Amino acid sequence: MTEECTSCDEGSRELALRTTLLPKDTNPAGTIFGGVILSLIDQAGEIAMRRINPHRRYVTVAMDSIMFHAPVFVGDLVSLYTCKTKVGNTSVSVQIDVIVERRDRPGEEVRVTEANVTYVAIGGDGKPIPVQG
Ligand SMILES: CC(C)(COP(=O)(O)OP(=O)(O)OC[C@H]1O[C@@H](n2cnc3c(N)ncnc32)[C@H](O)[C@@H]1OP(=O)(O)O)[C@@H](O)C(=O)NCCC(=O)NCCS
Repeated sequence: MTEECTSCDEGSRELALRTTLLPKDTNPAGTIFGGVILSLIDQAGEIAMRRINPHRRYVTVAMDSIMFHAPVFVGDLVSLYTCKTKVGNTSVSVQIDVIVERRDRPGEEVRVTEANVTYVAIGGDGKPIPVQG
């Protein structure tokens, strides 16, 4: 089965992860370090993979089209939404959107980051195996 989407619209997106971040996660500019957001993106993708086939183990093979549109601040409510972009034989790609609600603007969503991440299902020997089955 293959489904296409270029970004996660409200109808197709699924919430994978929600958190807030701390001062320890900031860069010298005082905003959240990009590597922290990438780590959250990878965790959100892993969670999405469990919905595809929970009996498989996955590794990340590629993170593409990563775009940081706006900064994340300490105290923002950070939500990571996923939607499938492509299901292949041994790989699955997911679109991951990072949306924040600013502390002083509750209810208002800001899409701060997006990425397309590809995971590969692997067997006990670390080699790719079919996602389905
Ligand atoms: C992921 C890994 C098992 C793939 O092994 P491989 O022998 O190179 O696999 P293949 O060339 O057969 O490709 C397997 C699938 O990945 C896809 N793929 C490979 N490279 C890709 C890339 N750069 N972007 C998107 N998909 C990619 C292939 O299209 C294929 O998908 P399909 O079966 O659905 O058509 C291997 O590269 C690996 O172990 N990488 C390290 C993963 C890791 O440790 N990640 C954590 C980050 S440290």
